[in-house]
Amino acid sequence: MRKFLSTAAAAALVVGAATFAQAQDKQSVEVLHWWTSGGEAAALEVLKKDLEGKGISWVDMPVAGGSGVQAMTVLRARVTAGDPPTAVQMLGFDIVDWAKQGALGNLDSVADKEEWAKVIPDALQQFAKYDGHWIAAPVNIHSTNWMWINKAALDKAGGKVPENWDELIALLDKFKEQGIIPVAHGGQPWQDSTIFDAVVLSFGDDFYKKAFIDLDPATLGSDTMKQAFDRMSKLRTYLDPNFSGRDWNLASAMVIEGKAGLQFMGDWAKGEFVKAGKVPDTDFVCARYPGTQGAVTFNSDMFAMFKVAEDKVPAQLVMASAIEDPAFQVAFNVVKGSAPARMDVSDAEFDVCGKKAIADIKEANKTGRMLGSMAHGYADPAAVKNAIYDVVTRQFNGEITSEEAVNELVSAVDAAK
Ligand code: GAL
Repeated sequence: MRKFLSTAAAAALVVGAATFAQAQDKQSVEVLHWWTSGGEAAALEVLKKDLEGKGISWVDMPVAGGSGVQAMTVLRARVTAGDPPTAVQMLGFDIVDWAKQGALGNLDSVADKEEWAKVIPDALQQFAKYDGHWIAAPVNIHSTNWMWINKAALDKAGGKVPENWDELIALLDKFKEQGIIPVAHGGQPWQDSTIFDAVVLSFGDDFYKKAFIDLDPATLGSDTMKQAFDRMSKLRTYLDPNFSGRDWNLASAMVIEGKAGLQFMGDWAKGEFVKAGKVPDTDFVCARYPGTQGAVTFNSDMFAMFKVAEDKVPAQLVMASAIEDPAFQVAFNVVKGSAPARMDVSDAEFDVCGKKAIADIKEANKTGRMLGSMAHGYADPAAVKNAIYDVVTRQFNGEITSEEAVNELVSAVDAAK
């Protein structure tokens, strides 16, 4: 405890006293992250500049690969070598797993003083705290049940945003008639599963919860799950032949450039549209995946702080504090495409999609419809998530039938639990 207080006191010195400028100069954070696309890098720059303004220098450790699959492998190697980075972009159950292993630091001094508990939704606190202590600083709230539609193509198809499966299929058929690729997609397991999040959710919150959060075998093996897989097969017929392995941001670019009609993707896709100078409701339209309005399959990017040498802790605490600053939450999230992690931040500076994200999250938070994203690590630990990824991707690529996928889902999840 005494050690901890002295750490907090050191942080206060770094934050507060201009005369300690020299000491500040020596402060740095090494940050491991996977924000390497145009929109992601632009958002990261906001954080980097903010910290540099506070005398904290930034040592960049980018590991490309959407949803952080590769980043987590690199992280394991660093921790195993006894040299963890100062701060790591991380999602959900991965954070809790590192906390369980005793690898993470303690942000209570900053979090308590700034009363994070009052403004960060409980759904996020379950992952940002462990054993009653703050271990990570949530930077945003993303969600996966979105569609990003090219506005010109939509107008040509009659202008109506689809609200159910039949309307979605009708729209995709019209895109096909227009001679564009109906669905822009990158065939990577995490992207396939991002679509699966939304498809499963469209059968109802209860179904999603029982399947992905409770991992109920009867639900995983149900006829409804088979229908969900059948829908995945149908959606696959609307992709171009070169989808395999494509990065998600290149799929976003296809919609931006009008080569494709729409993309099913989390709202980090909006960061790409914004970076390309595109305006919602003029150039593109954001809408919830048909049948999922009101519910939010969320994933919040958090910076988990690793246990590091004592002299590095003050910079960690400055970083944590900077991340939760309301003005920073606005500046960062308007660029990233996400909603703030705090519920008390004004939406005034956000575009219509940002305003919608914020309103949807507020509503879902009240109605209990904030559901952790399976695809992005907020429903299950990594082993279970990866088991689901594997089945979803093989079925999506036609290697197994829907029937086989349902059976394999039950056994793979059971083995991974
Ligand atoms: C998500 C992450 C987003 C975005 C996306 C694609 O898991 O939460 O911030 O980076 O991956 O890389």
